[in-house]
Amino acid sequence: MDFEIRVNDRPVPDREREAILAEPGFGRIFTDHMVTARWDEGLGWHDGRLEPYGPISLDPSASVFHYGQECFEGMKAYRQDGGGVALFRPRVNAARFNRSAERLAMPGIPEATFLRALELLVTQDAAWVPAGAGESLYLRPLMIATQHELGFTLPSRSYLFVVFASPATAYFGPGERLRPLTVWLSEDYTRAAPGGTGAAKAGGNYAAAFAAQRQGVAEGCDQVVWLDAAEHTWVEEMGGMNIFFVLDEGGGSRPRIVTPPLTDTLLPGVTRDSLLRLAPELGLDAEERPMSVPQWQELCASGRMTEAFACGTAAVIAPIGRVKGAGGKGWTIGDGEPGPVTRRLREELLGIQYGRLPDPHAWVHKV
Ligand code: COI
Repeated sequence: MDFEIRVNDRPVPDREREAILAEPGFGRIFTDHMVTARWDEGLGWHDGRLEPYGPISLDPSASVFHYGQECFEGMKAYRQDGGGVALFRPRVNAARFNRSAERLAMPGIPEATFLRALELLVTQDAAWVPAGAGESLYLRPLMIATQHELGFTLPSRSYLFVVFASPATAYFGPGERLRPLTVWLSEDYTRAAPGGTGAAKAGGNYAAAFAAQRQGVAEGCDQVVWLDAAEHTWVEEMGGMNIFFVLDEGGGSRPRIVTPPLTDTLLPGVTRDSLLRLAPELGLDAEERPMSVPQWQELCASGRMTEAFACGTAAVIAPIGRVKGAGGKGWTIGDGEPGPVTRRLREELLGIQYGRLPDPHAWVHKV
């Protein structure tokens, strides 16, 4: 499928765009264009378009409004130090998008079509890619079920794919300040159970997380830490990002980054995977192993856990300083401040993403 190009004849004026880019925030302002494509049973993907960003018109009966058939991705385009703009591991996002779609009984989209949509949008709206430290153009590919029917026998027979973009600083604010997060152990709610949709990037997972996130914010926390559904003991991930622990057990051993292993209740993050691969190159051990809440607390109390951090496309790498839970439970990780391993990994990852450092894994995809 090729994309028809319909350029916006009323783009945001240059001066206004520059003012937005001076302080983009996260996910508040959207660029001049979006890409759309439709899928119908029997026809496959068709009507691909680059067009002006704007509202989409849907009937109230569209299936997405009732049964929540929706999945999305979070990606970024980075202004490169040597000029130009690049995506980071976009094929991994394409593959995850298709796995999410499959879990939700939606059609897959060919990798080449997914990439072409991103490249078209980023090329057209290249002037919207901010140039400040830690800034990028955040990209949101999504798919929704559009069939007008309330019956619940079979999945929708029509879908809409959209990619739109938003200039962004890191989710937790400008990188140079690196504020340590306080996280809330969610013991009342469950994000995902075995056999459910936890490994899919499905809107419904995020809808179900808001109540817990609101509780965490009311407790003075930034993010929720999700525990397993059966025992509410094993750490899984955070509200929209993965989690890593840093262990430094002394005795000449190397510092070790640890993250819970992937199961069907965890979102397989692109940043998570990248850090597991980068760590050994930076002299760190990397391990996927389960971590319970009592182990977490004990490792901090004994000084063997020196750091923890959240990671994701939006969050990049954000240090975690403190943990809080019900009944006044709480502890500090290390000295509560961003630690050297968190900083080192962050520097390395951002260095590759912005083209400042060599890219031995060929992760950077120039547009
Ligand atoms: C991302 O990191 O891209 C996400 O989709 C997470 C979201 C909570 C902002």
